[in-house]
Amino acid sequence: MPYRRKFLKRAGYTTLSALLTMGFLQKDNQKEDNSTNAIAANNTSKNLNSPLRQLAAAKGKRYGAAISGEFLLKDKDYANLIARECSIATPNGELKWDATEPQPGKFTFESADAIADFCRKHNIELHGHTLFWHMGKPDWVPYPPTLQMIERHVKGVMGHYRNSPVLKSWDIANEIIADSENETDNATYGLRKGVKPELIRDLFLIAASVDKNKKFYLNDFGIEGATWKSDRFLKMVEYLKNSGVKIDGAGIQSHLWFSTAYGFDEKGFNSVLKRLNDLEVKPIITELDIIIDTPLPDSIKKLDQMVADSYKRYLDLCFAAKVDTVITWGLTDRHTWIRHPRWMPRKTFRNNPSLWKFLRPLPFDENLQPKPACNAIAQAFQQAT
Ligand code: XIL
Repeated sequence: MPYRRKFLKRAGYTTLSALLTMGFLQKDNQKEDNSTNAIAANNTSKNLNSPLRQLAAAKGKRYGAAISGEFLLKDKDYANLIARECSIATPNGELKWDATEPQPGKFTFESADAIADFCRKHNIELHGHTLFWHMGKPDWVPYPPTLQMIERHVKGVMGHYRNSPVLKSWDIANEIIADSENETDNATYGLRKGVKPELIRDLFLIAASVDKNKKFYLNDFGIEGATWKSDRFLKMVEYLKNSGVKIDGAGIQSHLWFSTAYGFDEKGFNSVLKRLNDLEVKPIITELDIIIDTPLPDSIKKLDQMVADSYKRYLDLCFAAKVDTVITWGLTDRHTWIRHPRWMPRKTFRNNPSLWKFLRPLPFDENLQPKPACNAIAQAFQQAT
């Protein structure tokens, strides 16, 4: 099953019924009016029109997005929007292995350096993504890579950014937990086939030997609830902690997909957040976007409201657990990855270009205008205690 389907199939999603329990979809109009009015009412207040980075900073938090160097260069309006709204940014692909070490031992940083320079100019923190992943790697790199390959790669890439004034954190490893128990040969930690816990431990140790002044994260998807995957992810975090490894945060990607097919689990999500707190590993929201799948509502207006309510509900849970960093996977629907045929939810959208207009997972629309989702995120920051 292609990555995207597998990726979406097992990540934590919300059924419409669960949406009702989570307050994402209000059953009766009155409630709906309240939630809409609440956002609308706030919309008039000056604050809500403030840049999201400013509303986040007012609560000691950061808001940002995945950004693409290509669009920063080609799309000035997009670049200005990023500069206005984001206080942290993750390169969409420019710091992945295939971009930084396309040939063994040959490092290329032009595209990542251009993003780092943009971040420096606009006082945006840069989050490094990622040093170890089963995708985004050149063909010469096997999965898992050998320890020698890992050591050369980590020393080359982290070394290049050791003194960077903007890069402050790394996804040291990304998506190392398998999608299900029949895709791992490690029952305890559920690691992807061929990956041993000791290899990940050594990866983190090598990273600390290169630059212990950055924050180190273990990043994954489908852990936004009490799932087989989140249980193994938390066990792996605990293993790394018990191995004396420097691990500062857990990246919860948060690609949320609401449909009648998948269950979101508010109680389970809270238990994941609590477990991370107990392990003294900070939960970081690293790739948030919200996709509504079948049954689609009958209008874009209704879809946008569902997405907005979902952002608000999810971020309220995050901020109640003192999450202080929220990165959406993109800022505008214009450049969302989910509109790419390879990544969109196949069943509903793949062969239905007429439905692609419903793929609206981000705070700003394709004309770079704020959507109800933007107001909802603003309101969540504003109400965060
Ligand atoms: C995605 C990018 O957005 C796409 O442009 C690329 O083609 C594939 O990778 N989880 C991750 C990200 O950690 O690196 C992925 O980014 C999305 C899923």
